Amino acid sequence: MQGRACGVSLEGVSVWYEERRILKDVSLKVPPGSVLAVMGPSGSGKSTLLRAINRLLDHVPGARVEGRIVVCGVDVYKANPYRVRRMIGMVFQTPNPFPHMSIYDNVAIGPRLHGLAKSREELDRIVEWALREAMLWDEVKDRLRDPPTKLSGGQQQRLALARALALKPRLLLLDEPTANIDPQNARKLEESIRRIAVEEGVTVILVTHTPQQALRVSDYAAFIYEGRLVEFGKTRDLALNPTHKLTAMYFRGEL
Ligand SMILES: Nc1ncnc2c1ncn2[C@@H]1O[C@H](COP(=O)(O)OP(=O)(O)O)[C@@H](O)[C@H]1O
Ligand SMILES: [Mg+2]
Repeated sequence: MQGRACGVSLEGVSVWYEERRILKDVSLKVPPGSVLAVMGPSGSGKSTLLRAINRLLDHVPGARVEGRIVVCGVDVYKANPYRVRRMIGMVFQTPNPFPHMSIYDNVAIGPRLHGLAKSREELDRIVEWALREAMLWDEVKDRLRDPPTKLSGGQQQRLALARALALKPRLLLLDEPTANIDPQNARKLEESIRRIAVEEGVTVILVTHTPQQALRVSDYAAFIYEGRLVEFGKTRDLALNPTHKLTAMYFRGEL
């Protein structure tokens, strides 16, 4: 539905917060329609990497990005930031629904603001599609007017995914989306992520702290340690045949 598949490439990306270099010369390529898992110990720069890709660091005083990031053929730091963010959906670690809007409006707000639907029926179709993709439709279809605060944390996180999907992104950035939810909800979210990539051709970058999740969901994996890309490749290769000692230690749960 999203149409043309599109890839992501990072070339020599470094990020500074003031004098401190957080990301160090990171280069990698994510093929169109695939899922990249970004792994690494806490504080290694995973969230910073996502924020560099969709230019959220523009709003962080003292933050500076060097290198080249290309998303769907668009050089991110040469393009208009609004155009960049329009192509990229993001879901954060903590569910963040708008509490004073209904479940329906939480999903409809993006398409409304961007004029994606020409009629009420079309908007309804987008909302239903996004909620189905996020595997939440069956649980909310009879209470779309309820506030999202009536949903469980895991359902709220799937609502956040539906909200991101409703804008028909070409790239999805997910920052530890299952860190604060129960295993059943986490599995649903994983299934949904997989389907979005495989069936809709959306490229996904998923920050995850569990190697098992990376193995279930991703095609490629990047292991970052203290801001450096230690290893990048097919997820199975990283898990089963890591070439670097640190990657092996991480997969054994020793880091
Ligand atoms: N806005 C900021 N200003 C200064 N330092 C920051 C800021 N955000 C993150 N950091 C620092 O950058 C490093 C990497 O953080 P982060 O990207 O959040 O790591 P991760 O997501 O891998 O846990 C950490 O040492 C963190 O303290
Ligand atoms: Mg983080």
